[in-house]
Amino acid sequence: PQRIGILTSGGDAPGMNAAIRAIVLAADHYDLEVIAFRHGFEGLLEQNYLQLTPNHVQHILQYSGTIIKSARCPRFKEVASAQQAARHLAELNIGALIVIGGDGSFRGAHHLSQHWDGQVIGVPGTIDNDVYGTDSTVGYSTAVAIAMDALDKIRDTADAMDRVFIVEVMGRNAGFIGLKSAMAAGAERMILPELQRDKPLTIEAIVKHIKRVEAVRGQGSYVMVLSEHQWPGGAVALSEQLEAEHGMPCRPCLLGHIQRGGPPTATDRVLASELGVYAVELIREGARNVMTAMRAGALTTVTMEETWSKKNPLPENLLRIQHEIFNPVKKSRQPR
Ligand code: F6P
Repeated sequence: PQRIGILTSGGDAPGMNAAIRAIVLAADHYDLEVIAFRHGFEGLLEQNYLQLTPNHVQHILQYSGTIIKSARCPRFKEVASAQQAARHLAELNIGALIVIGGDGSFRGAHHLSQHWDGQVIGVPGTIDNDVYGTDSTVGYSTAVAIAMDALDKIRDTADAMDRVFIVEVMGRNAGFIGLKSAMAAGAERMILPELQRDKPLTIEAIVKHIKRVEAVRGQGSYVMVLSEHQWPGGAVALSEQLEAEHGMPCRPCLLGHIQRGGPPTATDRVLASELGVYAVELIREGARNVMTAMRAGALTTVTMEETWSKKNPLPENLLRIQHEIFNPVKKSRQPR
């Protein structure tokens, strides 16, 4: 094609701008025009677009968010929407579309590919890391770094006041952010969707663990990472329960959308750049309906359907070591 389209869709993720920049610069290198649709699939339906040139993408890779805006677009599920989008793409003479987003966005991209004969290519961009086939999504590394930084700060005050803290992190239905940030910050416990599905924790089990950690390790603070939607009423309710019903001084902390802002990590900037350039290369090779991915340090592709129909498991080795790290055992003899 002479012209390609791009859009960012769903929850924005740090590094999306770096991906946009890489796509525009690579396209320019190969003499392709780039049309960017604003607000994700909404822009495709509303014909809200602009042409992006290398000038537009200068010095944007250090910022989170997305210069072309993002949105969730429920009406894109309808056949009429995909048909309308296909008409608009044809009118603009666009031969390929790069969708930067998460699994919901790739469902949309796949839906479009059923009604449009152009090439659709995905670039994984979500803090949740819940897209199958790539070791990391763009944004995940930054979200983990932000959560870790927050947990370190919470530790200072938790230690000073001998308190329990429940820190609620994002991740939608996946525990990647929770697991990695908890490990990185040395949290005492984590409550993750994947673990809750197998064996939901009771308040009694939580209380018992807090008391055991205190008794064995003799420390006053206890920091728990709670993945969103994993406790009725979230961190606030759990902390009230612990304080009111079990007499444990406890405070909640909701990290929320802070996890999506600030400077992206080097890892996210570089990953976004590699995947962005690769998406353009794939278009030149004639690929269609695939997502760009990074596995074991190598660029590769996954079919669009696999990205949401299969699930990446949590890293086995981290789950294994967390069992030993999180479960202190009382020793009968003193260390020599
Ligand atoms: O998918 C990214 C994400 O930040 C999730 O972790 C979270 O559940 C959701 O988006 C929040 O969505 P919104 O920004 O629409 O409130």
